[in-house]
Amino acid sequence: MASRENFGSKLGVTLAAAGSAVGLGNIWRFPIETGQNGGAAYIIVYIACIIILGIPIMISEFAIGRRSRRNTAGAYEALAPGTQWKWIGRLGVFTGFIIFCYYTVVAGWTLEYSALAIGNAFEGKTAEDYKTIFSEFAGHPIKPLVWMAVMFLLTHIIIVKGVTSGIEKYSKLMMPVLFIIVIILVYCSVTLPKASEGLDFLLKPDFSKITGNTILNAMGQAFFSLSLGLGCLCTYASYFAKDTNLTKTALNVCGIDTFIAVMAGFIIFPAVFNAGYQLQPSDVGPSLIFITLPSIFQESFSQMPIVGYIFAVMFYLLLVVAALTSTISIHEVVNAYIQEEWHLTRSQAAWVVTGICMFLGFFSCWSFGWLSDFKIFGMTVFDLFDFCASNIFLPVGGMLISIFTGWRLDKKMLKAELSNEGSLKVPLFGVYTFILKFIAPLAIGLVLLNQLGLFKLL
Ligand code: TRP
Repeated sequence: MASRENFGSKLGVTLAAAGSAVGLGNIWRFPIETGQNGGAAYIIVYIACIIILGIPIMISEFAIGRRSRRNTAGAYEALAPGTQWKWIGRLGVFTGFIIFCYYTVVAGWTLEYSALAIGNAFEGKTAEDYKTIFSEFAGHPIKPLVWMAVMFLLTHIIIVKGVTSGIEKYSKLMMPVLFIIVIILVYCSVTLPKASEGLDFLLKPDFSKITGNTILNAMGQAFFSLSLGLGCLCTYASYFAKDTNLTKTALNVCGIDTFIAVMAGFIIFPAVFNAGYQLQPSDVGPSLIFITLPSIFQESFSQMPIVGYIFAVMFYLLLVVAALTSTISIHEVVNAYIQEEWHLTRSQAAWVVTGICMFLGFFSCWSFGWLSDFKIFGMTVFDLFDFCASNIFLPVGGMLISIFTGWRLDKKMLKAELSNEGSLKVPLFGVYTFILKFIAPLAIGLVLLNQLGLFKLL
């Protein structure tokens, strides 16, 4: 693997990994989960999940990736040659493939909504109109396909450019843009006249709202949001330099990801409460962002339409940027595998991934149109991909990664990797391995059984 590329700078490493983590999961899924699970109390549970599970598993993915310097399937083969552990990596590649086929659909919608926002299409519309706009667009046989294809091609172009001049360069460009947009949007939202109710909701925990399910939801969300469980960060770590501090990078990435998720709450809830809107159970999935929010933006800024206009444009552009840095990372997991294991060039591998995923992506797109009645196990293609990936494959992947690192990986080697061959201190190494051996597999096992409806906590 002599010709393998590396990330060029420490900042590049952090921003690329943070770019993978910060995505639609932060801005779309986190706020709605917070809304439905009691606000501040949920955020506290979520942060606990990040600290107890997220950080150790992220460090493990980093260690596995950098030690082996291979794609995620090759990594396990390199570290445990001739064993079945390579299936963890293969499962990851497969999961990445599935996620790519539906995540990009939503990413495509963010492009359409950016275009709508820029064209001021939301002006003077009623709540009913937003529903129609969304269902007509998502159900259209061609339009969402075109936007999805644009998203695939943007991702493809960046991937083909390579690790340093593609992934790293564009992460360095897009992440600062993302931070700036987030800060401006938070400012606009918290200065709305009735923002304080939304702030109370985010800052005053009501612990009576915490149930077993809250904890399990928070754990699942933490996984998805941190890009854990499918070898995404393992693949990125295979491009880390020898002197990259893995623990510090993991802490930075978890910190940035959580910060952006919480800030997304600070963008959305003050506006939601300002408009006097009560979140409905139906505000899950696409509808919060694409139906409810345009109407709330409109209402919140009705006194200052120009601010409302800018707010909407920036909000949807924020989603585009967040989605793109994540689709790149998912593409790279599959791409690195195909390139290295099938001995193709980077560009050939990228075409294989883009081509197949785009084809399957059409079917997830059409789940909102003419294929909406086509169900497998009672789910549309889109829902099936989402369910299998986030509720089954990611937790299984995460559990296996912690078991592999906790039980199979040589502890001396692990310590050498985390300490950069002894040049860094590794505080709490015992706590870290204890979590990986016992706590993480058990906790994730519970989430998994709960997701499958086989077990109900509390
Ligand atoms: N973490 C991203 C988000 O929050 C999505 C994502 C990118 C992802 N790579 C992943 C999720 C790997 C699971 C696994 O939107």
